[in-house]
Amino acid sequence: MNMVLFFVTFFTRFIVAYFSCLCKMCKSAFHFSSDKNKWKLLRNGVKCRKIKMYDCSYLFIYKWGIGMAELVLMLLTVFLTTLSVFLYGGFRVSFVFFENTARKFLKKNVPFCRILWAVFAVDSVLLLIGSAFELRYPDKTYGGFGGAFWLLFAIAVLAVITDIVFFVDGGKGTLRQFLRSAMHIAPYIAFVYAILIFGLLIPFVPFGLRFVLTILLGACAALLLFVRCFGAGRLHFLTRPAVFMGQNAYTVVFSTSVPTVACIEYTYRGKKYVLWDSASRIKNVGRLHSVTVPKAHLENNTYTVRARRAIDRLPYGGLQGKKEITHTVDHFSTVCEYEVKLLTLADLHGKTQRWSALSDSYSALLLMGDIDGSIDCESDFIRLLLTPCSEILHGRRPVIFVRGNHDLRGFNLSDLYRRLGIEQFNYRFTLGNVQFTVLDGGEDKADDNFEYASYLDNYIYNERSLHWLSQQPKQYGMSIALSHMPNVFADKNQQKRAGELLLANGIKLLIAAHTHKTDYFAAAQERYLPINTFIAGAASGVKPTYSVITFSGSMAELKTFDFATHEELFTKDLILYTD
Ligand SMILES: [Fe+2]
Repeated sequence: MNMVLFFVTFFTRFIVAYFSCLCKMCKSAFHFSSDKNKWKLLRNGVKCRKIKMYDCSYLFIYKWGIGMAELVLMLLTVFLTTLSVFLYGGFRVSFVFFENTARKFLKKNVPFCRILWAVFAVDSVLLLIGSAFELRYPDKTYGGFGGAFWLLFAIAVLAVITDIVFFVDGGKGTLRQFLRSAMHIAPYIAFVYAILIFGLLIPFVPFGLRFVLTILLGACAALLLFVRCFGAGRLHFLTRPAVFMGQNAYTVVFSTSVPTVACIEYTYRGKKYVLWDSASRIKNVGRLHSVTVPKAHLENNTYTVRARRAIDRLPYGGLQGKKEITHTVDHFSTVCEYEVKLLTLADLHGKTQRWSALSDSYSALLLMGDIDGSIDCESDFIRLLLTPCSEILHGRRPVIFVRGNHDLRGFNLSDLYRRLGIEQFNYRFTLGNVQFTVLDGGEDKADDNFEYASYLDNYIYNERSLHWLSQQPKQYGMSIALSHMPNVFADKNQQKRAGELLLANGIKLLIAAHTHKTDYFAAAQERYLPINTFIAGAASGVKPTYSVITFSGSMAELKTFDFATHEELFTKDLILYTD
């Protein structure tokens, strides 16, 4: 896909430049024979009224075919420049390192990406305007680009080079960001080009072709209107339920293919509960749904999720689809009879796998953070976070989510995390005889790092996390801490205090990720914190891995496997405490 888009973008700019040259040559050829044939055309009896409307010279081009070819080239130029400018809209994501470097050394903001994009956008618009003028006024007096054409051409070549740099530099993840970023400006680009097309090109389109275009565009507009009014697409579950662990409750999260209203239904102690995904007394409409349920209600219970298409909600009425989709999870449980066995996935970074191959009798799925380089939209959230959870556990066992530093990067994240139902990312819970403390370490750099462009407010959040940790009662027995970063926080002082508090809390083992390696460091080594630390590998990278952590009595068994072959790559047995 990456390569396909590379070629599309590369050839887009190339073809634009090439066609512009071709149009210029066509114009010259026409100019050479214009007067003679205009006269010929008039002599052959073309009506004067038509000549006034369309310009005699243009009639000549159209009649003899050269004009039609030129017109098609013009329309193609419009299409390609529009596509090109749309793609360049994502520049600020892919080339942001230029701005970061400038900010780092010059200590001030340099809007490089925006300037570059603006130059390419203006270039495309000027090529379009110039071409239209050449078509309208083939005489050099009115229509010539002159030397300006070659400047525009040079800018187009520069755009090709930057395209190459982008696609060589960026991977799959960057490409997704790029397109998402471009989507933000798509309506504005469409508006600008719509004005240009209607103002400059439509007058040159012959009536027959204009009629066909009107029919086609009208049909598209009607279809869009219909979809907007009545919804479209087959209604089904995109992801089946995943049950996220919280301190006092579980949150059941699932998604649908189209906007719906949805609920969870179960019976507890003889009473039927129907809990809707709602906020402020109003049912939420969307593709991503979450319902928070008291832990006791779901334990060893069966539950059903239901969803119905939401078409229109009005102040005094509205419309919902007739069809309802349901999915029943026959048994949810957190009971761990002999051991607590955690399937651990760390640092997925957008990598997707055949998740169902990992499905086994685990007590829970432990997601150690960094599910992607950044989470840019609801679709990413569903695809990268919810899909592995639902495909591995089928809603029958809980998911423990530890937020990573990259999970704080992206657009509209606050809203997405609210939909996940987790209000507080520092939390405690018990599974079997194991007590867990989850710590939300935040970003891995200081708030004033140039990379965050002064948007980060991490330090104070960490202070609140440390305060929360200091308020937690000491735990005895098997007490485990979970943190994405092995040193928990980026700030040295906060790291030190976190280590002291974890020790005072009786934590025996810290499970972490972030380094993309599998490692174990005994407390005495103090490699990160003065606590036994297991770093659970990475599901991304050259050799993707997953880990299985098993707690039994006072013992912990740490194992890491190759994702593809399931070959055991790391193993360590620990006695974490003595009674
Ligand atoms: Fe990380």
